[in-house]
Amino acid sequence: MPNFSHIPIIEVSNHHAAAERIGEACRESGFFYAVGHGIPEELQRRLHDLSREFFALPIEEKMRIPMAAAGRAWRGYFRVGDELTSGLPDQKEGLYFGEELPSDHPLVVAGTPLHGANLFPEHPAGLRDAVLEYMEAMKHLGHRLMAGVALSLGLKEDYFAEEFTREPLSLFRIFNYPPPRDPTLWGVGEHTDYGLLTILMQDDAGGLEVKSQSRWVAAPPVPNSFVCNIGDMLDRMTQGLYRSTPHRVRNPLPRNRLSFPFFFDPNFFAQVRPIALPKGLAKPDDHAERWDKASVRLFQGTYGEYLLGKVGKVFPQLKREVIGS
Ligand code: OGA
Ligand code: NI
Repeated sequence: MPNFSHIPIIEVSNHHAAAERIGEACRESGFFYAVGHGIPEELQRRLHDLSREFFALPIEEKMRIPMAAAGRAWRGYFRVGDELTSGLPDQKEGLYFGEELPSDHPLVVAGTPLHGANLFPEHPAGLRDAVLEYMEAMKHLGHRLMAGVALSLGLKEDYFAEEFTREPLSLFRIFNYPPPRDPTLWGVGEHTDYGLLTILMQDDAGGLEVKSQSRWVAAPPVPNSFVCNIGDMLDRMTQGLYRSTPHRVRNPLPRNRLSFPFFFDPNFFAQVRPIALPKGLAKPDDHAERWDKASVRLFQGTYGEYLLGKVGKVFPQLKREVIGS
């Protein structure tokens, strides 16, 4: 496990110019802040304010769009404690979104898990448009950042788009972390992310921590930045050269903390396989020291298969209700 003491801030407006620093960050901590990203502050603020309004609603109102109602599309609202990221109930509630697909889309007709229509709340009315606009903007940013990642690996800038993300699996979540009631529980427990790249907007509360070899390193709020981090798939594809680093959150404040992670992942049907790296760059397998003792590098199959194994574990109750196992 690498030892690092800070998370770099990288200006990403030109992905060619940013590639080298992105590569360094991915090898050291697997985390960096992106600034100069071009996402309008007005959109960020609007999404933030509308989300705050939603979470302030009574629980009965929020439970009008429960995740169980979306079935295998895995969309909608879940309550504090419903998700068990690392085996214990997370102290957060949230909304789960994905690409908005009509009911007659072939993948929806075929019953493909994680594909379908979103469940949007009736109130506040503007949340639907803000979410859809934000996801579109994040998808573009994801492509640009992954072009930088490709260049940093000595690959063509459209490598990921050609091989894995022409049609990425985009998952978007909005979390509300209430002030902690039980100091032994985490907002979200220690975990790594599943896909290629996570792009996180966090409010000004703080509380995100990233695991370095000797200690936990804080990833405090940086105005108008996104916290970007590598997921398991990119770790696997680069044979551990680019790190999917464990992280966790505890809201440090006596008020709500909001965060907005966007997951830019390989296509559901993409076969996960290693990228040919320049000689000498690949690292030995690290599964003995991983938080879940599992090696992502031992996995064979599609990204969809990998992801379904994960979502079933973190929402066991929902899995029983929806899939009946
Ligand atoms: C995640 C995550 C951090 C946060 O959703 O994978 O690590 O601040 N979120 O909510
Ligand atoms: Ni995460």
